[in-house]
Amino acid sequence: MKLPETLVGLSVRELGRHSIYLPQVDSTNLYLKENGESLPHGTLCYTGQQTAGRGRLGRSWIVPPGQSLAMSVLFKLDNINKLYYMDKLPLLCGVAVVQALVSLTGHPFQIKWPNDIVCSGFKVCGILCESRMTKEGGFAVAGIGINLSQPADFFEEAQLPHAASLQMLLPEPPPAFGETAAAVMNHLDSLWCLYDKEGFEPIYAPYEKMCMTIGKEVRILSPLGQAVMEGKAVGIGQDGSLLVQAADGTVHSVQAGEASVRGKDGYI
Ligand code: BTN
Repeated sequence: MKLPETLVGLSVRELGRHSIYLPQVDSTNLYLKENGESLPHGTLCYTGQQTAGRGRLGRSWIVPPGQSLAMSVLFKLDNINKLYYMDKLPLLCGVAVVQALVSLTGHPFQIKWPNDIVCSGFKVCGILCESRMTKEGGFAVAGIGINLSQPADFFEEAQLPHAASLQMLLPEPPPAFGETAAAVMNHLDSLWCLYDKEGFEPIYAPYEKMCMTIGKEVRILSPLGQAVMEGKAVGIGQDGSLLVQAADGTVHSVQAGEASVRGKDGYI
């Protein structure tokens, strides 16, 4: 009998060839940051229960037992000069998750810049990429949290009005835990291999197509939630930043690590 965590359908060349399933962990990102030096490039660490999950801009990411998927992937760099490589990692992960969820469910998913995954106007997945410098050069960790089957009460109690689980939004049951992890890995592996060979150029157009933020009037918020500027999102910069055109015509580049973005009248 297959265990729920079995990576059903995994078919990868580079990432996810080594995987660690933990029934419970403080944070899969932390686990790989702490153990990354002794683990091979591409290691996947995944769990159905995180006790101290980390979100963007210092927030937490709660993963109650068995209702969502928390997964992190280790990217080792053989050369410190390749650290710039990692600024596109959040965008690659966003594209991989959308491709995986569309292929698993047949429903539409989009990216809210930089990498919230949205379905029917609700956030169903968050992505947090972190890095750590070492004597050998350093490594990055890409963390992905997908809301599979939490009930509506969970998001109400956590005061997350813009978030939902796939179970709440889709007419069919959500995809299985291990199958979802495998599908994300399959797409992330393909995108990573392409990126490594040809750079971001061939991924730029798919990202922009999936990104619902581009073309919208947006409000940029500081990590403390204060509005710092308003304008129209006109594209993605070479460094993965969001390009926002203010009313006076000037274009500003907004970095993912420093801000969040809202539609003029709400979450998207
Ligand atoms: C966000 O704030 O939107 C990003 C959330 C990222 C959550 C994932 S769950 C797996 C990995 N481990 C963590 O502690 N965080 C990321």
